[in-house]
Amino acid sequence: MKQALIIEVSPRGAESASREVTEALSARLEARFPEARFVRRDLANDTLPHLDIGALKAISSKDPLEAEANKQSAVLSDKLTEELLASDLLVIATPMWNFGIPSLLKAWIDLVVRPGRTFNYAKEGVVGLARNKKAILVLASGGVFTEGPWKAWDFVEPYLRTVLGFIGIEDVQTVRVQGTNMPAHAKSAVPNAVAAVEALSL
Ligand SMILES: Cc1cc2nc3c(=O)[nH]c(=O)nc-3n(C[C@H](O)[C@H](O)[C@H](O)COP(=O)(O)O)c2cc1C
Repeated sequence: MKQALIIEVSPRGAESASREVTEALSARLEARFPEARFVRRDLANDTLPHLDIGALKAISSKDPLEAEANKQSAVLSDKLTEELLASDLLVIATPMWNFGIPSLLKAWIDLVVRPGRTFNYAKEGVVGLARNKKAILVLASGGVFTEGPWKAWDFVEPYLRTVLGFIGIEDVQTVRVQGTNMPAHAKSAVPNAVAAVEALSL
């Protein structure tokens, strides 16, 4: 592995369960791939803009002249997309907020899911262009979503797997840090997730 891109989302700093587990994951990755470059994007401390009309025209206009005229608006999107395409491994560590992903992370997704760069429209539908990559999701939630009555309310893992699959990233492993707000699970949520990190195939 040449490069890993590690995206963290929680604004809760040292109190964040997803960050604590990602620290253990980073340590394991660094030991396993000592030669690799680790690129870290902290979306809580370095927030990204939403797409504006200029960026939209630059990345999705069907008129090449219009896209060219707006290309300055897509400088950040270009940079983030190159960063993703240059990485062999993508780690996304995120809390569940209101059953989905925080808009902090959605802003990054909107900037990197781009026609002609990370996917292409094709005769048979859509072809992902971000190929030969693996992803690891570290998903923190106050409740438990892998089983039980709340399972159907998890819009985090299905959404992330869908959007990553759309751009060609099919090899996705998940580590759950779940039940962080539930008395019966709170104490074991992080240790269980750290044990799951140790069991990941890297
Ligand atoms: C704004 C907000 C919304 C949340 N929504 C949910 C939710 O829909 N379902 C859930 O199980 N937990 C929810 N939680 C709890 C977090 O997912 C939980 O505290 C998790 O540990 C946060 O990750 P972090 O510790 O890495 O910040 C929410 C927390 C916040 C602050």
